Amino acid sequence: MAKLKLNDLSMQGKRVLMRVDFNVPLRSDGSITDDSRIRAALPSIRRILEQKPAILILMSHLGRPRGVSNHKESLAPCAKRLSELLGQPVAMAPDSIGTAVEALASHAAPGSILLLENLRFHPGEEDPEKEPEFLEKLAKLGDVYVNDAFGSAHRAHASTALIAALFPGRAAMGQLIEKELSFLAPLLENPKKPFHVIIGGAKVSSKAGVLKNLLPHIDALYIGGGMAFPFLKAKGIPVGSSLCANEDVPIAEEILSVAKKNSLPIYLPIDIAGSNKEITSLFSDGIPDGWIGMDIGPETVDAWEEKLKSAATIFWNGPVGVFEKPPYHIGTRDLATFLAVSRATVIVGGGDSIAAIEGLGLGSRFTHLSTGGGASLEFLEFGHLPGIDALSDK
Ligand code: 3PG
Repeated sequence: MAKLKLNDLSMQGKRVLMRVDFNVPLRSDGSITDDSRIRAALPSIRRILEQKPAILILMSHLGRPRGVSNHKESLAPCAKRLSELLGQPVAMAPDSIGTAVEALASHAAPGSILLLENLRFHPGEEDPEKEPEFLEKLAKLGDVYVNDAFGSAHRAHASTALIAALFPGRAAMGQLIEKELSFLAPLLENPKKPFHVIIGGAKVSSKAGVLKNLLPHIDALYIGGGMAFPFLKAKGIPVGSSLCANEDVPIAEEILSVAKKNSLPIYLPIDIAGSNKEITSLFSDGIPDGWIGMDIGPETVDAWEEKLKSAATIFWNGPVGVFEKPPYHIGTRDLATFLAVSRATVIVGGGDSIAAIEGLGLGSRFTHLSTGGGASLEFLEFGHLPGIDALSDK
């Protein structure tokens, strides 16, 4: 069923309550390392302001404070950054609910913007049973609800999904979610073939579901990062002292066996950079005892690039090495540099891969950088997300 979109809502003179995902990485001094998620919300914010609302109230989480308020996870740096980007003031609320916030919302000048404090300072955001009044108090702040938090659309939390029921016929998707779906839905429905998928990052179990779901639809799978070690182990290749959870090995075995039945090639690293900064080839004895694999090696990058040249669509999630610790960024850097000039449709999901790409100044060279790592994977796994399902039908 088609969902209500921002342009379907009448917003003039209304209090617009919009969920955004400002869960941005912060330095210890509170400054923002990567403001992509704030910039990604600008089209919806600008669109709403053009409609002359009474007030635009933005709400988000930051980090995982688990119901406890703390200074380090305040959204204040995001209010400051948003104000710089928009060239207009953005007021910061002291909380996300309560009389002080209600007063700020009702006495604001027409067309002003208020950012609520971190929703996850309240237990009711993630677990409504722990704070039943939270949802209603939050909903009370707005006349219409917009969800533009694609990065959190896989969470069935108060502000991302449950709240929509309190805005019957008035809960719409924002322009960022609309854009994300326009790139991700075709990957499930009719990707241009051959369709290749690169998966990195650390834990096999968290990505097993999406891998199993994608296997029948793709033409090649590349596995790097910490994800690779259980697969190497499942193939009987020693992994030295590399990160490799025992419970991940049977999952890797199952994926390898399904792929074999479907004649789907899975490309694993053929050389590895170890924590001693040396490179070892995996052709003879695997990773030596005591070595910790930190990155894919140069032969792997060359071999993968050769295969990736034939792809028409590429989806990439997760760095292929510990890229935040140079020199173990090289595999991810070289892969990103190659994909930036690929003629294929290249879609990247996941904060770490995107931070690597943006850090190289290559962001504009990709077809689409998804603001949701977990959300894009869950969308590819299930074909829908709770934060979108909950919105009003058109
Ligand atoms: C993310 O960064 O993936 C989203 O903001 C969701 O955060 P969460 O994994 O803490 O729910």
